[in-house]
Amino acid sequence: MTSYPQLSAQERQEEYRRLQAEYEALKSRGVKLNMARGKPGKTQLDMVSDLFDLMRSPEEYVSDGVDVRNYGELSGLPAAKHLFADILGCRPQEVFVGGNASLQLMYDTISKAYTHGLLHSPRPWCREEKVKWLCPAPGYDRHFKVTESFGFELITIPMTPEGPDMDAVEAAITDPAVKGMWNVPKYSNPDGIIYSQETIRRIASMKPAAPDFLLMWDNAYCIHEFEGDFVPFPDILSECAKYGNADMVFEFASTSKITLPGAGVSCFACSEANMAYMEELIGVQAISFDKVNQQRHVLYLKDKAHTLDLMKRHAAILGPKFRCVLDMLQEQIDPLDIAQWQRPKGGYFISFNAMPGTAKRVLALCKEAGVTMTGAGATFPYGKDPQDSNIRIAPSLPPVEELRQAMEIFCVCVKLAALEKLGV
Ligand SMILES: Cc1ncc(COP(=O)(O)O)c(C=O)c1O
Repeated sequence: MTSYPQLSAQERQEEYRRLQAEYEALKSRGVKLNMARGKPGKTQLDMVSDLFDLMRSPEEYVSDGVDVRNYGELSGLPAAKHLFADILGCRPQEVFVGGNASLQLMYDTISKAYTHGLLHSPRPWCREEKVKWLCPAPGYDRHFKVTESFGFELITIPMTPEGPDMDAVEAAITDPAVKGMWNVPKYSNPDGIIYSQETIRRIASMKPAAPDFLLMWDNAYCIHEFEGDFVPFPDILSECAKYGNADMVFEFASTSKITLPGAGVSCFACSEANMAYMEELIGVQAISFDKVNQQRHVLYLKDKAHTLDLMKRHAAILGPKFRCVLDMLQEQIDPLDIAQWQRPKGGYFISFNAMPGTAKRVLALCKEAGVTMTGAGATFPYGKDPQDSNIRIAPSLPPVEELRQAMEIFCVCVKLAALEKLGV
């Protein structure tokens, strides 16, 4: 296989015709595969469903003297706070345990900033003339949608292999209208990047012009290695506190990809001052969250060490799926000089950069052949990738055999679109 840019016009045409025939043959197989979202596969869900064998005896309904079936303990069961604090490396009193979706807690934090203001807000954000928000991109589409839905102006911050471009961040936060920033510090969605120590230090020590700057630290993939050993990460709460920024950060996590996305437990962690402020606001909207499920998770996951053992079992299922995708890309696309991608060791995605100007075309071709992927542009603010290049591959849901079929189609589509761009 030769590099496509080096092919002569005639060679490109021959290759294009050959690929068109291959594409038609693949299309006629009539496959229907979905790689749009990072959902755990059925084997993973089945593996943890013994979770439901717990909570059968009355003594399991009581945790630290609290009847988990009743109202109360708004900020979560003490044992659940301990569990998340153990995993995140913070203190139990800094943890608020909620319902099943950390995304809802993230939305709610921003919503409260908008309606009521945060601890250090001069006024609620709805009274600000303009609110701007930093979005490291490629990033998580649902993050961007949350801030877009409140009418904030989204500012794209380029991602580097070390995390967000901190020169761009430090320049942007001199504007007092810039009120916050999204972060996925470990195995970022979609790049799978782990922020470097230096990036974390620069973030924790930021001096934003806005007194109520909100650092959204979404640690969704904090223990989600699918290859190799657990990679430790610093506690962002104490990092921020070290630089006088204790109240700047809210950290989020959940068991969506530890146990079940549809029936897990989520949390946020913040300074004790923020906790007192938030408890007062949240206390108006809820008396308590689902503590039965919190207790089920405490009994099932036990502690960080036990949870890491479970993550190894997830890795045994996910690892072969990621390797299947990465090996096929290596074999079929790498020699052609038409795309780049990362080789993550954790998280749920592979970030694929097709030849600029071809991502939409690749995904349209995939769709026509029965493979649905995350929409082109989704990984950028407002759903617009200025390069039309980034494609998020989510290998977790289909079984390996189906994944192989889907990737066969994907690779042909990437090649067809690249040849079209180069001229055929
Ligand atoms: C970075 C990131 N944060 C949050 C979520 C969703 O988390 P939850 O299920 O806890 O709402 C996802 C799901 O894909 C994600 O990728």
